[in-house]
Amino acid sequence: MNKTERLKKIKEEVVALTESPLYKERVENKAFPVIGEGNHNADVMFIGEAPGAREAATGRPFCGSAGKILTEMLEKIGVRREDVYITNILKDRPPKNRDPLPEEIKIYTPFLERQIEVICPRIIVCLGRFASEYILEKFNLKEEIKPISVIHGNILKGEANYGQIKIIPLMHPAVAVYNQSKKKVLLEGFLSLKKAMSEKK
Ligand code: URA
Repeated sequence: MNKTERLKKIKEEVVALTESPLYKERVENKAFPVIGEGNHNADVMFIGEAPGAREAATGRPFCGSAGKILTEMLEKIGVRREDVYITNILKDRPPKNRDPLPEEIKIYTPFLERQIEVICPRIIVCLGRFASEYILEKFNLKEEIKPISVIHGNILKGEANYGQIKIIPLMHPAVAVYNQSKKKVLLEGFLSLKKAMSEKK
């Protein structure tokens, strides 16, 4: 199976994930699961937390107000959104955008793991605390788990089964939705990404 077929299979399995604690909520709200979008050969993969209202209404990741800030940050560092791949830890929206629960993380992350295996990104950008904690633990970097404001913009090295990768935890772009002054610190983190992208592989 090629990458697109493998990603399609992941999507079909998430769509049919009736055992998810968020499945009933999805159906009742006539919402969509949000699997991911972008370049299947991307060097950079962004992992957010969970779909919000707009994402669940459209099935597209980061298409609401936090997404607008993500797109703006990418433009500022000269990266086109269509060149990266964007997904989330949870593939369904938690009610009222509450934090993901451990059992929800457990049921959805095997799909994330498979997305990583398909895309084989050289750089994984973790947006916010939940993505950072999950990915740092997965890549045996548990000692790097600290408050997101402390590790924001760090370029860490991890070992994937397809080679060495860089992992960059960033504050979630939603921090700047109601507080525009946070854009400055957010941009500093994205500049780390730009630096990591320009470094030799
Ligand atoms: N916040 C996220 O973490 N992911 C989205 O897709 C949208 C908002």
